[in-house]
Amino acid sequence: MKLIVANWKMHLNPHESSLLVKRLDDNITAKKGVTVVLCPAFIDLYPLAREVDVKKFKLGAQNVFYLDEGAYTGEISPTMLKGLASYVIVGHSERRALGEDDKLIAKKVAACLRSGLKPILCIGDTLLEREHGHSVKVVIDQLTAGLKQVTAKELSELAIAYEPVWAIGTGNYAKPGEVEPVAEAIRHTVEELYGEGSGSAFSLLYGGSSGPENARSYLEMDGIDGLLVGGESLNYQHFAEIVKIAETVAGG
Ligand code: PGA
Repeated sequence: MKLIVANWKMHLNPHESSLLVKRLDDNITAKKGVTVVLCPAFIDLYPLAREVDVKKFKLGAQNVFYLDEGAYTGEISPTMLKGLASYVIVGHSERRALGEDDKLIAKKVAACLRSGLKPILCIGDTLLEREHGHSVKVVIDQLTAGLKQVTAKELSELAIAYEPVWAIGTGNYAKPGEVEPVAEAIRHTVEELYGEGSGSAFSLLYGGSSGPENARSYLEMDGIDGLLVGGESLNYQHFAEIVKIAETVAGG
């Protein structure tokens, strides 16, 4: 099963997002073997939840708060998202850059699971960390911290996205050869933390300047189950192309 996730970031109002969904609907067929998740802005989730063909598209949020309710101005809780979204992107590097730390991210991951939402835990190294040869250590530290409150049973509800910060929105995508050792380290670490078999219990995605030209090279990798697509997910033709590639890889 391949998982293709669109991260629309802070783009598109409800009208525009509805238009994009219509175009995607016209260009994507629901095929076995591929799950397509669209992650619009919070305000777009409510209208889209009523419009999307659920056989083709799942919806996801780009963030969530870690408590269910209370005096937290401006926050959205997992229980509020339930019924509108089934996935949540947690710990994206753009949120880490705004101040989210590993502890907060671990609480958000746990909160999602508690509410039956599937967290997509994002982890990734910066250019400086990569230049110092610290990529694997940084990613594994973020992974271990993010999984702090996750039980072995919950792993199958989880996706982990390896997103090198230096590859996001830059066009400078990580080569499969660079992704491979990190992907291996991620699976190995989970196996160490949770025991035999757990290393393949979750979905592992790559993200960072992925598009129709390089999608196949990741999707054909042994340890990679899908993609977290930013910029190219706003282009319906390119995104539909990525989904088609995933279908051929999943089918063949
Ligand atoms: P990008 O973004 O595909 O535009 O690099 C990926 C992401 O931030 O999830």
